[in-house]
Amino acid sequence: MKDIVVVKDKVFETYILETELENIVSNVAQKISNDLRNENPLFLATLNGSFIFASDLIRKIDFDAEISFIKLASYSGTESTGNVKQLIGLNENIENRIVVVIEDIIDTGISMEAMIEELQKHSPKKIVLCTLLFKPGKFVKDYAIDYIGKSIDDDFIVGYGLDYEGFGRNLSKIYKIKE
Ligand code: IMP
Ligand code: MG
Repeated sequence: MKDIVVVKDKVFETYILETELENIVSNVAQKISNDLRNENPLFLATLNGSFIFASDLIRKIDFDAEISFIKLASYSGTESTGNVKQLIGLNENIENRIVVVIEDIIDTGISMEAMIEELQKHSPKKIVLCTLLFKPGKFVKDYAIDYIGKSIDDDFIVGYGLDYEGFGRNLSKIYKIKE
């Protein structure tokens, strides 16, 4: 019997339980710890969605690590420039440093591509991508994603930081929309 929750006007059912989430996060953290132990990476968690994943992940990284929080804010530019993205929160110098971008979910991949483009302007040594969830059926880009917690189907989900219209982030499990 699946748990049911209502978030705003939609009904969701349990999809990924806490125990599985913990295993997923442990596996990713172990891989990153092994791969980047001697690289002094800067972890960059993308707000808002990745705040819970990032807080669990960083506590499972077993070397002395630095984390910061960034956000891509959209604002309307002139008609010719259209929708302009601005990177906010990057206070560290990442020039010639490996950065690990922590994302909650990569769906079409468009948001992450915009993030990569903005970070490239700051000349990092390398941009490593880490996402809790990935929807391969929706992905329209071709960049490599270094660490994927779990690939899922195309359904809309909430919980563990992910929202539906701002709500549902505080749910401990991940829920998927019930048709
Ligand atoms: P993109 O399509 O990869 O650009 O994803 C953009 C953003 O949409 C993600 O960072 C999430 O914040 C959000 N998103 C994508 N799929 C879901 C979902 O199933 N639930 C909640 N948010 C989602
Ligand atoms: Mg997001």
